[in-house]
Amino acid sequence: MTLRGKHIIVGVTGSIAAYKAAMLVRLLVREGAEIRVIMTPAAKEFITPLSMATLSKYPVLVEFSNPENGSWNSHVSLGVWADALLIAPATANTIAGMAAGTAGNLLLATCLSARCPVFVAPAMDVDMFRHPSTVRNLKTLREQGIHVIEPSSGELASGLDGKGRMEEPETIVRWLSGRLIPDDCRGKKALVTAGPTHEPIDPVRFVSNYSSGKMGYALADELARRGAEVLLVSGPVELTPQHPSVKRINVRTAEEMYRASVELFPECDAAVMAAAVADFTPATTLSRKIKDKQNMMLPLLPTKDIAAALGKMKRAGQVVAGFALETDNETENAVKKLNDKHLDFIVVNSLNDPGAGFGYDTNKITIHDAQGNTQHFDLKNKTDVAKDIIDKLVTYFHEKDK
Ligand code: CTP
Repeated sequence: MTLRGKHIIVGVTGSIAAYKAAMLVRLLVREGAEIRVIMTPAAKEFITPLSMATLSKYPVLVEFSNPENGSWNSHVSLGVWADALLIAPATANTIAGMAAGTAGNLLLATCLSARCPVFVAPAMDVDMFRHPSTVRNLKTLREQGIHVIEPSSGELASGLDGKGRMEEPETIVRWLSGRLIPDDCRGKKALVTAGPTHEPIDPVRFVSNYSSGKMGYALADELARRGAEVLLVSGPVELTPQHPSVKRINVRTAEEMYRASVELFPECDAAVMAAAVADFTPATTLSRKIKDKQNMMLPLLPTKDIAAALGKMKRAGQVVAGFALETDNETENAVKKLNDKHLDFIVVNSLNDPGAGFGYDTNKITIHDAQGNTQHFDLKNKTDVAKDIIDKLVTYFHEKDK
């Protein structure tokens, strides 16, 4: 269900391809989207509002108001409600109206009010499609950031052969799904740990590691983009979350990260442990700078394992995901961590893979889960890696919501 919970307006205009809009709406509903259909008066000549209302499970909107009862179909409210506006089929006339910014019918007025991404799937005869006016109008739409789903070539209703056939509904749905961010984390609260920790030796020195925090921040942003409320418990890094709804809790040491995580986890649905927590901390922290550099010994104590603590605290329905950065016996070590820490899944990156690990903008991961499944992924930038990891997390949410 790639469009679960998405609000999509399907605009249908007066083209012979309007019959394809019925299948399109059916597929969008199957992908979990909530649909409102707006038809232009001319579209009603090609397909009945009854068919479209039945498939979309909602009355079709055509006019600005209903003279029978005085109710108003607010293009402004529709424009705000929608996560996407898809006009399929889009005639040369509607495209011209959009390019000119006219508001002569409910669909055109809604286009002007829409705050969401707009997609048009043109359908017309070959000569209309290549007419300089249409070419110019489509260029204008593209310049406005409107996505034009190119028509395909083939036999047209006119009997002519050429470009102008509306793209097939399956392709349009794939296109739309690829460009709309899923809303599949809405209503969920997630804890993400990120970055290194600094374990102070004295006021100017600390024990730490090379973690940049990039992976954890990418995960927090991806979760927030997909609708989750995110609590990002972050060690000291030079990053800021991109998404405004990520709440960042700054910590410095492993002990501080432990306390914040253990306190926040009970209110969360999931925890993604991306931090590279220092494994050791100086047994004592000196309040004055060390001056004696002869015979220097630094007694260290192990830090608390935060992932293991959350794995132990986990209630039914809560998900805990961990990371493992390995140089040898990757699978064996990672699966051991997965089991020892009671994680639901573990994301492994090998320091032997070029482009993976600390500091890079890219990562190459393998995911092992507690059910014994393994998924390998290609080298990708950390934003795309975050998508793969959150896709995995979401499968647990759906399992729980069943
Ligand atoms: N982790 C943690 N708290 C720690 C150490 C690790 O929460 N004190 C988490 C990390 O965030 C990561 C996972 O545990 O999700 C694995 O971290 P890693 O350092 O690879 O594992 P360790 O258990 O420390 O094992 P080792 O250093 O021996 O490889």
